Amino acid sequence: VVKRVTIPQLMACKRQRKIVALTAHSAPVARAIDPHVDFVLIGDSTAMVAYGLPNTLSISLETIAQHTAAVARSTQRACIVADLPFGSYQESLAQAFRSAGYLLSQGADAVKLEGGAIMAETIQYLSSRGIPVLAHIGLMPQYVNTMGGYLSQGKSPEEAARIRADAHAVQRAGAFGVVLEGVQEALAAEITAQVSIPTIGIGASPACDGQILVTEDILGLSGERVPKFVKRYADLDTMMRKAVEQYAEDVRSGAFPEPQHCFGVKST
Ligand code: KIV
Ligand code: NA
Repeated sequence: VVKRVTIPQLMACKRQRKIVALTAHSAPVARAIDPHVDFVLIGDSTAMVAYGLPNTLSISLETIAQHTAAVARSTQRACIVADLPFGSYQESLAQAFRSAGYLLSQGADAVKLEGGAIMAETIQYLSSRGIPVLAHIGLMPQYVNTMGGYLSQGKSPEEAARIRADAHAVQRAGAFGVVLEGVQEALAAEITAQVSIPTIGIGASPACDGQILVTEDILGLSGERVPKFVKRYADLDTMMRKAVEQYAEDVRSGAFPEPQHCFGVKST
């Protein structure tokens, strides 16, 4: 039996080795990444990459829960972290606990939520009651309407000071780690040096203790426009289109199916 990576094991990576993480919401992707990542995130980015929604705001807790269950049953060793979607934790501590507890019941080992100092009380409430929390600060996609777009964070000294304070606040509250998104390198380096919990970067430079990206982005399955911080490792979209085109051609020409694909026909 393969044992899953635990939260204390993730925390122990700090200053020892890089933490590798990717997102997944489906069984095939979860199976493919499981041997290679320390944790897998069922991100609310599923709203955009799997459901074609314009942002992450309208995916429901139930949908994240179903994808969490799919990923959990398709993996053996990666630690499972599920995003608390917009509206499932901001209302009250009780709501946050109920939502996070539900994700744990569906196979998550931990949850991620967006917010720094403003979410410290929630992080403390959950983590002290057995629900490990990964905080997410800097560029927070659930604040897209407040930000007026997806803009890199921490450029002004005031913004940098706020993000630095957020990192310290989530650590104090008991977060086991913190995602830094779209943060300037100097600030990411400073925060990573100052806090004792691992920093997981996405568009936040190699200074972080680990990296995460959206799997569809690195595989070329999320369209032409990807953020600057994405590196493309494959062009699966082109492969998929070619395969489907060939199939359509074969059906129309009669080249498929062949005898070996048929029942009650002797294949030669
Ligand atoms: O939803 C998501 O994909 C995320 C990123 C940090 C990868 O939150
Ligand atoms: Na997310």
